Amino acid sequence: VESLKQAFEGKFYIGTALNLNQIWERDPAADKLIKSQFNSIVAENSMKSMHLQPQEGKFNFKDADKFVAYGEANNMFLIGHTLIWHSQAPSWFFKNEKGEEVSKEVLIERMRNHITAVVSRYKGRIKGWDVVNEAILDDGSWRKSKFYNIIGEEFIELAFKFAHAADPDAELYYNDYSMALEGRRNSVVKMIKNLKSKGIKISAIGMQGHLSLDFPKVEEFEKSILAFAAEGVKVMITEMDITVLPMPNRNIGAQVESNFAYKKEMNPYEDGLPKDKQTIFEKRYLDFFKLFLKHEDKISRVTVWGVTDADSWRNNWPMPGRTDYALLFDRQYNAKPVVKQIYRFG
Ligand code: XIL
Repeated sequence: VESLKQAFEGKFYIGTALNLNQIWERDPAADKLIKSQFNSIVAENSMKSMHLQPQEGKFNFKDADKFVAYGEANNMFLIGHTLIWHSQAPSWFFKNEKGEEVSKEVLIERMRNHITAVVSRYKGRIKGWDVVNEAILDDGSWRKSKFYNIIGEEFIELAFKFAHAADPDAELYYNDYSMALEGRRNSVVKMIKNLKSKGIKISAIGMQGHLSLDFPKVEEFEKSILAFAAEGVKVMITEMDITVLPMPNRNIGAQVESNFAYKKEMNPYEDGLPKDKQTIFEKRYLDFFKLFLKHEDKISRVTVWGVTDADSWRNNWPMPGRTDYALLFDRQYNAKPVVKQIYRFG
């Protein structure tokens, strides 16, 4: 086979995230890769609430409409990311005209309005929604977001109900990172049980695949796939990338982060990735794809978070201006050797 989508045909969708340039087809080489390699897409930023509703009631659907048109023109399975998330949400969402925090009732109405407007606009076209993103912390406790603090944990079921009402056929997902951690795993299982016990639709769990060369262990990731699938939902690997860079100490403060030596230490591969690191990187991708194939009956989609290394958000997070090599295609738009290995799975 000669493409990722051929390699996984009949098993699961293989997707990628599109940035603005790619949505508007301003990057011909990326466009070629997207159309030949992937059969599912998600917008990297264009469907987050701050982009879709920058001011109350003033929606900006231009980029999202183009994204949907792109996917339909190319027969792709379209994912909407994301309806309710504490990050990249406009600040008006949580405030009244006086700048005070809104009441529970007002915030619920805003959630309802946002979700209804967005989901109904793409009814029958966007096939699955990341309804709630990142509501649980590593230790399994609730993230103390504005949604949680103002509404309480009920915000989750409300979001799923509003989305379901707007498009009863759409798949509805809960999506989060570091899902291999036991604390988060257990709390997500509880969340699925709670929603199901109330008759609220949840179709799948999205496990953001933001991995590194040594975290998480494949076995821990597998435990979470099994735990979620055992609750009767599908599992998806969303947002996959594998950073090869050291993790900056986020508590160290801006003073040290602006220090030249420290910056250099945190950005060691500006001139290319050494062979030994490349080998570990390739093995890591292969180990994970082997795991996904082992559980292909439980997994409905695997999405990588960007097309080429140049696109990857990892170059800028958790520290800006680095050179990472996290994705499957290099900065020259060439498939990395690991991609050829993946073709052999087909
Ligand atoms: C990231 C995008 O890739 C960046 O371009 C943006 O600046 C910040 O958000 N978890 C998610 C994604 O659910 O939406 C995030 O995407 C990465 C982490």
